[in-house]
Amino acid sequence: MTRESAVVFVKFGSLFLASLGVLLVVNSLARGGNGSGETPWRTFNPTAADVHEGRVIMERSGCFSCHAVDGFGGQIGPGLNGVKERKSREELFHWIKSPWSVKPGTKMPQYSLSDETVLKIISYLETKDSLKVR
Ligand code: HEC
Repeated sequence: MTRESAVVFVKFGSLFLASLGVLLVVNSLARGGNGSGETPWRTFNPTAADVHEGRVIMERSGCFSCHAVDGFGGQIGPGLNGVKERKSREELFHWIKSPWSVKPGTKMPQYSLSDETVLKIISYLETKDSLKVR
């Protein structure tokens, strides 16, 4: 290899590495930004505290003015017992996060809840039917 071609080689080599780096960053952003390539509803592994907080957040957000759980709550929206049989975790996530983009014109209000908060609500909705209260 001549000196000149070695320089060219090094230049293009680093250009290649730089574009590879850009590709990796763009790729991980497109996958949701946490770099692990997982979507938030898939990696979420709720604790009992998350489940409890989910319930409290629902009470504070007024969800029960429209939705009933175990016979308590409003009738404007569907009762939420057994909702996990009707909707996947992913569908629940998109619905609670942004009902208007899933179903424009729905009566369910658009909240501005963080991903984490939505996941806590889902953990409550997913487990409430198997909770035994004494
Ligand atoms: C103003 C009334 C209202 C409030 C408040 C409300 N919802 Fe809803 N929700 C609805 C209606 C109506 C539907 C049915 C949507 C449709 O099909 O248009 C619905 C649907 C849902 C569904 C899907 C149910 C199913 O059987 O598929 C979930 C889950 C849900 N709401 C959760 C929530 C949560 C969590 C909150 C509080 C953060 C909330 N909702 C607040 C009216 C409401």
